[in-house]
Amino acid sequence: MSELFGDLNPPPRLLMGPGPINVDPRVLRAMSMPMLGQFDPVFTGYMNEIMALSRQVWRTGNRWSLLVDGTARAAIEAILVSLIEPGDRVLVPVSGRFGQLLCEIAERAGAEVRVIETEWGTVFEPDRVEDALRRERPKLVAAVHGDTSTTMAQPLDEIGPLCRRYDALLFVDATATLGGMKLPIDEWQIDAAAAGLQKCLSGPSGSAPITFNERVVETLRPRHHIERGIRPEGIAEGEGAQIRSNYFDLPMLMDYWSEMRLNHHTEATTMLYGARECFRIALQEGLEARFARHALVGRALVEGLRAMGLGIFGDIANKMANVTGIAIPDGVDGDRVIRGMLEDFSIEIGTSFGPLRGKIWRIGTMAYNCRKDAVLTTLAAFEATLRQCGYSAPPGAGVDAALAVFRASEAA
Ligand SMILES: Cc1ncc(COP(=O)(O)O)c(C=O)c1O
Repeated sequence: MSELFGDLNPPPRLLMGPGPINVDPRVLRAMSMPMLGQFDPVFTGYMNEIMALSRQVWRTGNRWSLLVDGTARAAIEAILVSLIEPGDRVLVPVSGRFGQLLCEIAERAGAEVRVIETEWGTVFEPDRVEDALRRERPKLVAAVHGDTSTTMAQPLDEIGPLCRRYDALLFVDATATLGGMKLPIDEWQIDAAAAGLQKCLSGPSGSAPITFNERVVETLRPRHHIERGIRPEGIAEGEGAQIRSNYFDLPMLMDYWSEMRLNHHTEATTMLYGARECFRIALQEGLEARFARHALVGRALVEGLRAMGLGIFGDIANKMANVTGIAIPDGVDGDRVIRGMLEDFSIEIGTSFGPLRGKIWRIGTMAYNCRKDAVLTTLAAFEATLRQCGYSAPPGAGVDAALAVFRASEAA
């Protein structure tokens, strides 16, 4: 008989990296509810509830606010592969790893990708985006809101109106910011956006919220081709090219999430339960209160790190509230610190990618883990681990400075 291995017994970690984070117990509870069939009216009722709840989280009136089954990049891929026809011009402002991911997905969908770049740790001024729009006249601009690889948040409020002026659609990857930083989809004139649950929504990865407006629907309409085996009588075939992916075909997902309830994939029931609870938790707290909590806890972390004599990475004015990059001091082995945090304190923090690999650590303060106690514990463990690795911060300074930020906010 083959080996059965032991019972699953993952160690209790405090996940303070750039995501995933610890899942809110309410979400875990929701995910243990009984299965339902995907056409059970109770279940389709939950699908409608998801749409209503997620519209509020996205701050949009978009009818099409639903879930793609898969991690955040599944939602990104669904939007890009459905919108892009081979030869379409797509403009991607790249300031980190996830901008590069958008290029890669758009290229695979056959786009003629045009890139503008800025150094990792900085963001784009709207003028640069406008110049590129004027020059390239893209069909679509694909931008990242919070790029966790650099910890920078691209200001987007002026980009949407610019895209409208140059008749381009705007897609935003909000994987790392939805529920943690302000991102009003309609107000900022974002045409489509995608996210995940595992950052600022307190959930596990595996379900990806998306929203898109009627401008996107109009672009998709000619590409509506229903799978042969389920095509109802009397529905005309679209005249545009078939979308290259069946799984990520947005018009078919719309048929499934609309009153037509045309079968597509078997909806991931457990993930949908989890997503529903994530949205309820965020809305119960209130989005403004949630953004303020992320800003406060992020600030406390930054002050704590500074008091330890550490440098904060990047353009601090545009730093994400929920992820902080820390310059690894000269002579310190960054990977050893990460291992020490995990082995001695069971706390996970992250390193970074590409040009920042070995140069910065990243600490996340998101959703369920965006808490005073989690930050104070992390700072205390970080101080001790750094000492083991040859960097001595003034003892207690990090925790004290972070506590001072919390005390000041409690007193205000
Ligand atoms: C900004 C951003 N976009 C996309 C992704 C990809 O998400 P996933 O790993 O859920 O596919 C991540 C994951 O860290 C991210 O931070």
